[in-house]
Amino acid sequence: MTENEASQPTNIADGVGPTTPGGSPDPGGSSSVWEGGTIRLRAVAVDDWPAFEAWERDDESNRRSYMIPFPRSAEATRKWVEDAATREYGGDLFRWVIERHDGVPVGTINTHTCDARNGTFSVGLAIGQGHRGHGYAGQAIRLVLRFYFEELRYQKVNAHVYGFNDASRRLHERLGFQLEGRIRRMIYSMGTYHDTLVFGLTAEEFASGG
Ligand SMILES: CC(C)(COP(=O)(O)OP(=O)(O)OC[C@H]1O[C@@H](n2cnc3c(N)ncnc32)[C@H](O)[C@@H]1OP(=O)(O)O)[C@@H](O)C(=O)NCCC(=O)NCCS
Repeated sequence: MTENEASQPTNIADGVGPTTPGGSPDPGGSSSVWEGGTIRLRAVAVDDWPAFEAWERDDESNRRSYMIPFPRSAEATRKWVEDAATREYGGDLFRWVIERHDGVPVGTINTHTCDARNGTFSVGLAIGQGHRGHGYAGQAIRLVLRFYFEELRYQKVNAHVYGFNDASRRLHERLGFQLEGRIRRMIYSMGTYHDTLVFGLTAEEFASGG
């Protein structure tokens, strides 16, 4: 996901900070741990397939998230979304839809590489093109981190960000992730090789605001 710059983490200001001991996650607001700032996280629904189809057509987003895939039919996307909406997620893996409070789905976020024994996990996400730059990604990541650190007892989140993904790099820096390393020549795209940046954030760093 992202890299480094001098902005301060703003988790408290954005209303999605760590929970105070014994307190509600959002004093004065909703008591749902899945709401904060201007968004909420909810389970994928079967009816979300057109939104996923639109997000999947964004190949710049695909390139930055993973890789540009072969085209997928509407039927295949619908089947994939149906599966995401109805499957029993194993372990601590999960996928959410990021939704504005007015009900508009703006993106998706998922956890992966969850290692409960060592307490490490990773997060992937994408925000639809017309919805970027409103802080939704930062708010969504904070909600997920708070749950994994404070409820599931994870102790560190890791993020691998492609070297050319300036937005994701910036996003992670702003959330307080530390740049821990650069793995050279890991991704081939746009006719050349790119490095992967390794970011990490501990539970203690998250609790102290990054
Ligand atoms: C990365 C991504 C999730 C960020 O979503 P977002 O909702 O726009 O993020 P936020 O609004 O929370 O802002 C993130 C920060 O990145 C900055 N940013 C956004 N686009 C940028 C760009 N092209 N270059 C540099 N910084 C950028 C924002 O200004 C903001 O920083 P600031 O608060 O200091 O101004 C979104 O661009 C996206 O979906 N990209 C495609 C998929 C992807 O890259 N996923 C992550 C894979 S690791």
